[in-house]
Amino acid sequence: MTRSYLRFAAWLACALLVTALDNGLNAKPAMGWNSWNAFGPTINEEIIKDTADRLVALGLRDAGYVYLNLDDGWSDLKRTADGRLTANKTAFPSGIPALAKYVHSKGLKFGIYADAGNMTCAGFPGSLGFEEVDAQTFADWGVDYLKYDNCYAAQQQWVVDRYTAMRDALNATGRPILYSLCNWGVAEPWLWASGVGNSWRTTEDIEPTWDNVVKLLEYNVGLSQFAGPSRGWNDLDMLFVGNSRLGEYHPFGPFYQEQRAHFALWALFKSPLFIGHDLRNLNSSFVDLLKKKEIVAMNQDELGVAGDLIWQQGTRKIFATALAGGSRGVVLWNLQTTQSQYPLSNITVFWEQIGLGGSQRATVRDVFSERDLGVFSGSFSAAVAFHDVAVLRVTPVEGPLDDSWRPWHAQPLYAPQPANLAVPSAAAWIAGYTGPSSSGSGPGSKQQPDIRKASFSPPASSGPPSFAVVLSVLASLAALGVVGYFVVLHMRMRGWQQLDENEGARKMSEMSQTRRYSPPGS
Ligand code: GAL
Repeated sequence: MTRSYLRFAAWLACALLVTALDNGLNAKPAMGWNSWNAFGPTINEEIIKDTADRLVALGLRDAGYVYLNLDDGWSDLKRTADGRLTANKTAFPSGIPALAKYVHSKGLKFGIYADAGNMTCAGFPGSLGFEEVDAQTFADWGVDYLKYDNCYAAQQQWVVDRYTAMRDALNATGRPILYSLCNWGVAEPWLWASGVGNSWRTTEDIEPTWDNVVKLLEYNVGLSQFAGPSRGWNDLDMLFVGNSRLGEYHPFGPFYQEQRAHFALWALFKSPLFIGHDLRNLNSSFVDLLKKKEIVAMNQDELGVAGDLIWQQGTRKIFATALAGGSRGVVLWNLQTTQSQYPLSNITVFWEQIGLGGSQRATVRDVFSERDLGVFSGSFSAAVAFHDVAVLRVTPVEGPLDDSWRPWHAQPLYAPQPANLAVPSAAAWIAGYTGPSSSGSGPGSKQQPDIRKASFSPPASSGPPSFAVVLSVLASLAALGVVGYFVVLHMRMRGWQQLDENEGARKMSEMSQTRRYSPPGS
């Protein structure tokens, strides 16, 4: 009897060992720098070494940005004769082990990129079928972090299996390598990737526009309950803080208040924080922004509760999280349009919304300016400039100091859907949804059309185009020309207007500094 218990216990221990990620790197979201947003696939060892030097010199390493990660483009187009990945010799003449050594000598950790398919997204060799040799190569090279992408795999090669294969290969090396799943939210990784990776991307790639930043954030609402030190982290993708391309390519892209909203919300959601900017020309105000101690501390808080949306009305939103020791982190966000001539919105957070007693007295601290604003009971109001945030730390001055509240408590928005909380099966995903009755027969039963089979066949064309067709093509071209002219004109005017508005925003922001933290009765 005892022997069979022992045998069962041994089997269970083995099963657990092979079914969980065992690198011990889940405690906090990772922080660092990644090459992709600034350099794309054109990286080389000079850039990486220079970035290592700058991470140290700019104080970013000491602020917590310790991983220096190569993204796509580092490898050669071919594996070596013995089937190993190898670096592009022109770009990395000293080789990856030497580069990793340099990075380590700066007190940083070294990260690399690979792909769970036949090729990386930029066309370099993929790791599908080569998991063991690649994981071992990375371990031999001294790699500390693997970003694992999702390009070029067939649908039948089930995503969970592909990512689990690399998890097992990394485990087998015995080197703790942080495993970051970059599968763009495919098949809802927040439901299955805990125990597979330390973090998982929840969305497609970030773009350097304000609308995209807002969109990615919205996609992540409701997902925070799936993150934490015992599970892993939702990855909202790399930061675009300070990216100088914003202005050039996106005349309506983020400015300072948008960038700090982007940064504060990524931090509150406990996303890994990866700088995506070329450090050679990162404006010092953005370096300071990235180093904001108390924002970073919120991201790295011991309790590890990811923040989430707790209230919204129109263009005003409140996000919150629980922090170690019973404080709350709160972000008041004004999403009002930049077109408004009244760009301030009053936003009030009530203590009941963040799990505190209605009349409890609490210290409110402005996290960006690192100033206590006073003791308030019941609520706190701030006038927030458009697209800007007020980031607050609310700490009860008397008990109970309760850190068991979670942002998703009592929110109908987050009511769980038990049927969906299981790890999706490959069969279900690959077969696709066919509706409750797969036979499609019988009175009243409907069958979901299989949209993958639907095909669009253009009408067969025959003979030369008719006069009407030629005329409509010419008319369309002329219309396009006129529209193009007005678009260019508008963009130029809008560019100037944007500058004015930005100036206006600065002024309003200054005003809000004085008005912001004086709620009635304080
Ligand atoms: C994408 C990924 C990006 C970047 C790129 C490289 O799939 O989401 O972050 O790594 O591939 O090709």
